[in-house]
This record gives sequence, structure tokens and C-alpha cells, in this order.
Amino acid sequence: MPELEPEMRDLHLRLVAAPATATIVAGTETEVLSFRAEVLDGDPASVTSSGSYLGPTLHLRTGQRVRVDFDNEIDQDCIVHWHGLVLPQGQDGQPPEAVGPGERYEYDFTVPNEPGTYWYHSHTDMLTGEQVYRGLAGLLIVHGDEPGLPSRDNDFALVLQDRTIDADGTLRYAASMHDLMAGFVGSTLVTNGVAELALRVRREPYRIRLLNGANSRLQRLTWSTGEPLHAVATDGELLPETVDVPGLVLAPAQRTDLWMDFSGHEPGDRIELRAADLFVEAPGMGPGRGPGRGGGTPMLDPVEGVAVTFVVDDSPAEPGEVPARPGGSVAVHAADAVNADAPKQFVLSTFRASHWINDTQWAGREVTETETVAFGTTEVWEFVSRSPLTHPMHLHGQAFRVVERTWEDDGAAAAWEQIADGVVESGLRDTVVVWPGQRVRIVVPFDAHRGYFLYHCHILEHEDHGMMRSFLIE
Ligand code: C2O
Ligand code: CU
Ligand code: CU
Repeated sequence: MPELEPEMRDLHLRLVAAPATATIVAGTETEVLSFRAEVLDGDPASVTSSGSYLGPTLHLRTGQRVRVDFDNEIDQDCIVHWHGLVLPQGQDGQPPEAVGPGERYEYDFTVPNEPGTYWYHSHTDMLTGEQVYRGLAGLLIVHGDEPGLPSRDNDFALVLQDRTIDADGTLRYAASMHDLMAGFVGSTLVTNGVAELALRVRREPYRIRLLNGANSRLQRLTWSTGEPLHAVATDGELLPETVDVPGLVLAPAQRTDLWMDFSGHEPGDRIELRAADLFVEAPGMGPGRGPGRGGGTPMLDPVEGVAVTFVVDDSPAEPGEVPARPGGSVAVHAADAVNADAPKQFVLSTFRASHWINDTQWAGREVTETETVAFGTTEVWEFVSRSPLTHPMHLHGQAFRVVERTWEDDGAAAAWEQIADGVVESGLRDTVVVWPGQRVRIVVPFDAHRGYFLYHCHILEHEDHGMMRSFLIE
């Protein structure tokens, strides 16, 4: 047998979650939790350092067998979830599988997904928010043939987060009940683990993979030059057609890959990717978060921060062309669903400082009839928001397509109108924004694996406070 190229070989990693220190704000040291990895067998380039508290970026390939020995060296239970990978129960990383301090969990799976942008993070019962905030998350990129997109040399992956850091470097998390209920928003934008990130770019087209890795902050992203953002992929899936948006809406856990050509810019130009916080003030929930926010009405925060600055170098300009058809196909149709005319309803509500789905909360492997699905069928699910808060709903086990948005109660419709042109969902997604008062219909093929999977709000404080359930594919 001829030897396979190293990058094609199977991969065996040791992944460790452990306390560490990192510099997030220049001049200070912060105590964090962090993943580190070691390649036991396979291509050493499968793991690249993030240079920050974030875990290393894992570079995998479609069809590759991956074994991961996960060692928990923190003083809480922990488990790793591979967000977006379509894996069987037991490999997916769910709270019931968490291992205690000093224990190991062994994963062994074959990467089923097409090339694209994914991530991994801790998924521990009641502790996901705190553990991810302290650092237990990283990027996972599936590589393969993606003709028409910039090569690996012109490929950035950016993790957008926020942190509250004291002058002495101490990381602050959710000090109040309000933080836990509304979702915790940090005061400093942090990209790839550092505040005020600046990256040098050549005068060429780039692929810029964006992951909203924040616990709760929903963002609208714009270029400082006013040009549109060209979206070529969402949640790991290439789009059938490139979508141009004036301002990209990215909810926690969502990914969108951009195509951006810096060739028209002059050497020394500084181009900012700006981020405005989007949120809806919840009536009766006390003082708003951040400056200038009162209670009562839905609003968008007009304050913009800078997520990253691209500094254009003096290389010769090599213009490229935006790919019109990045290559995705969306063979998921509501008409194929077994319940096309009678969607299953999942009512989202906020009551007594906690979050509910169909008046139930996280109860491990308990499932209702609504939460039971026949293997091999396609279903239409409808999230119905009776909550004053935004809930980005995520399904494990399968990407889905958004088919329709209507209103249950149009209280927050005006705020939605201001951002709707930045919501990209013409392809597949694994996380969908459900705005206050909205009904969002999705169509989901349940054809990958039988077993228990999770669906939950990806505002991690909501997930930790009830808004997560299992579903069973049987
Ligand atoms: Cu990214 Cu169940 O999570
Ligand atoms: Cu997930
Ligand atoms: Cu939520």
C-alpha cells in the first residue's frame, strides 16, 4: 500500500482542558480555562495554535477518521461538543456524557461534513456559559476541495467574543441575576482572544470565516468602507449563491464566511470590521445593559465597536472576482416533510427568571412525543416566541433550512425590520435567530443517526437556565 499524504491520514489527538493564563488586554494577564492539543498520530499541521485563550484550531478533512482523547484537568465536570458536525450520539458531546476532574472521554468518529467552518466547545450541564466564557472553545475547520474560493494562504478565521476584564486582568462573569436571565454581555470586544486585533493583508481576495463565539451578544457587522459584505457560506455550508448584505447579522454560534477583496485599497489603508450589538430590551426586566438603555421598547444599540482592523500591505494589487455560486446545494424542501401543513410547535418563553420550551426545561434524556422523530423522515418545526428576548435556536445532529418567518405578536417587528436585510438564510444553518414575537419555521431532515440529540438556545445563559431539551430520533 502506498503511504497516504500526511494530511490525508487518520488523526489521533489528545485534547486537554486545563487552567491557563492569557493576555487578552495588552499589559495584563488573565486566568482562563483553555484547551490544548497534541497530535499523537497523523498530520502535525492538523492543530494550529490560536495564540490566545481559545483552543487550538483543528484542521480536519471530510471522511477522515478522528480519535480524540479528551482529558479533563479542570476542577469541574466537562465534555466537548463538536458544533455542527453530524455525529452519532456518544460522539456528539452532550451534558450527560460529561466526565469529572481527572477523567478522560474518548471520541472516535469519521468526519461526515463537507468542508466548512465549525467549532468545538464545552457543553457541561449548567456550566456551559461559564466554561466557554473562561475559554473552553476553539475553531474546527473541515478542509477539502472548494474551487472558486481563496486558498489556505488567504483564509482567516475570526472568533468574535466579548469579555469583561478588570484593570488587573481578572475576568468577570455574570455578576447579577439580570445577566443570567438576559444573557451575559461583556464590555470589551475580543476577537481571536484579544482586544483590538489588527491583521495584515495583501491586496488580494480573502476568505474571512466569522464565528460568533460570544455567550449572548448578537451582532450586526459592517465594513468601515461602507461596501457590502459578500457571504459565501453559513454554518459550514457553502451557499448556492453569494449573498451581499449591507450589515451581517450573526447570532451566537452562527458562522458566516465572507469573501473580501482588498486589492482596491491602498497600502496602509486600515479597514475595520465593525460590530454593533443587537438586542431587544425586555419590558419589565429592569435596567438595560450598557449605556443609554432604558426599559420598555425593543431597540438596537447604536454603539459600534471594532471587531478587527485589516491593515493593507504594499503588495501588488491582484484583484479577484466574487464567486457567484460558491457551490452549496439545498436539497431540503418543506414539501418533503411528513408534517408540511402541521408543523410541530416549540413555544419559547421566559418566566420567573428562567427560560422554557413548551413549558418544559432541560431534563436530560426525557423527551415528549413532540420531541420524538422517526429516523429517515423530514419534519417542519416551528419556534414560536412568547419571550421578550431573542433566542438563537440550535439543533444538534443535522443542519436545516429556514422556510418562513411570521409574527406571533409584532411588538418587536420594527426592530427586526432594521436588521432583516442582514439575515442570511438562503442556505443551510444549524442555528437560527428567533426574534421576540416571531414564529420561525424550519425544515429538518432527520436522516443521519438514530439516538438522542439536543436542541437549545445558544445564548449560553439561557441554555444553562433551562432552555435546552433532548430530542429522540428513533
Ligand atoms: Cu454549540 Cu449544543 O451547542
Ligand atoms: Cu451543536
Ligand atoms: Cu435564548
